[in-house]
Amino acid sequence: MLAAWRAGKVIPAFNIPYLPIMKAVVCALRDTNTFALVQVARPEWEKFEARSLRAIRQEYERVKDERYTRLHLDHVPVLDEDGLPVDFEAIIAEAVDLGYESVMVDGSRLGLEENIQATRKVVKMAHDAGIPVEAELGMVLGHEAGPLPPYEELFESGRGFTDPAEAGRLVAETGADWLSVAIGNIHGAISGAARSQKKVEARLDIAHLDKIQEAAPVPLVLHGGSGIRKEYLRQAFGHGVAKINIGTTIRQAYEAHRSQSQSAACQRVYDAVVNLLVTQLEVAGSAAAIQPQ
Ligand code: G3H
Ligand code: ZN
Repeated sequence: MLAAWRAGKVIPAFNIPYLPIMKAVVCALRDTNTFALVQVARPEWEKFEARSLRAIRQEYERVKDERYTRLHLDHVPVLDEDGLPVDFEAIIAEAVDLGYESVMVDGSRLGLEENIQATRKVVKMAHDAGIPVEAELGMVLGHEAGPLPPYEELFESGRGFTDPAEAGRLVAETGADWLSVAIGNIHGAISGAARSQKKVEARLDIAHLDKIQEAAPVPLVLHGGSGIRKEYLRQAFGHGVAKINIGTTIRQAYEAHRSQSQSAACQRVYDAVVNLLVTQLEVAGSAAAIQPQ
C-alpha cells in the first residue's frame, strides 16, 4: 500500500458477499496482470452469503494467486449499520489468527475519542501480528437501512465529511496505517429493494481530500468505490487515495444472473472486474509496478 501511495497509484479491493465471486475476481486480476486485495466485511457474512471468516479464508487459500492478491478484513464496525454494538475485538482477533493479511476497524459511528480508543486496541493487536490496520473517520453513508437524503443535498452540505484535524489526531494517536475517508463517496445500499437498484454516481471533493491528506499523511482509502464518476477518481488517486473498495458493482452483476446459473453469474463478475480495471480505474498491469514486500 505504501508503494502504491508513494507512486500515486491505487490498489482496488474487491468485496466478496458470495464465495464463488472470489475465483472470478482472482482470474480477472491474473488475466490483466493487476494487483488487488480480496476482502470481506461483516455485513457480507451476516446479511449475504460469505458465510464466515473461516469460509472466506479457506476459499482464498483455494483460489489465491499471491503475485496479484492479498486477503483483507474489511469493515468490522464497533457499532453496526443497525446501531447495535459488535464484539469487534473478537472478530478481528479471529481474522488475525486465521491469517488475514490486513484488517479494518470501523469506529466511524462513534465520537472521536471512542473511535481513537477502539482503533488503538486493534492497532496493538494487528501490529503485534505484523499486519497493517485501516481505520475510518467520517460517515460513508449508505449501509444503514432507510432512505438517504438526495445525494446532491448531502454533497453540498458536506454532511459526514471527514474532519481533517480529527483525521490528523486519529492517525497520530492510534498508529493506524491507512485511513478511510468521507469526501462525497457513499456506500451502495445493502438492505431492502434499494440493494438491487443502480447506485448514485458520486462525486468527490478533492480540495477537502487534500486537507485530510495534509493532516493525516498515510495512504487514504475510498469506500463506496462503485459508480464514482471517473473524472473524480483520476484526481483522487493522485491526491492520497491508495485503496478503493468495490462492492456493489460486482455483487449486482452476480445477483442479476445467478438464477440463470452460477457460471453465468461468475462470468458477469469476471467481465465487470476486467472492465473496472481496464476502463474505470485504469490500473490494469499494475502488478509489475506494485511489488508486495
Ligand atoms: O467496504 C466496502 C465498500 O466500501 C464498497 O462500496 O459497494 O458502494 O462499492 P460499494
Ligand atoms: Zn466500505
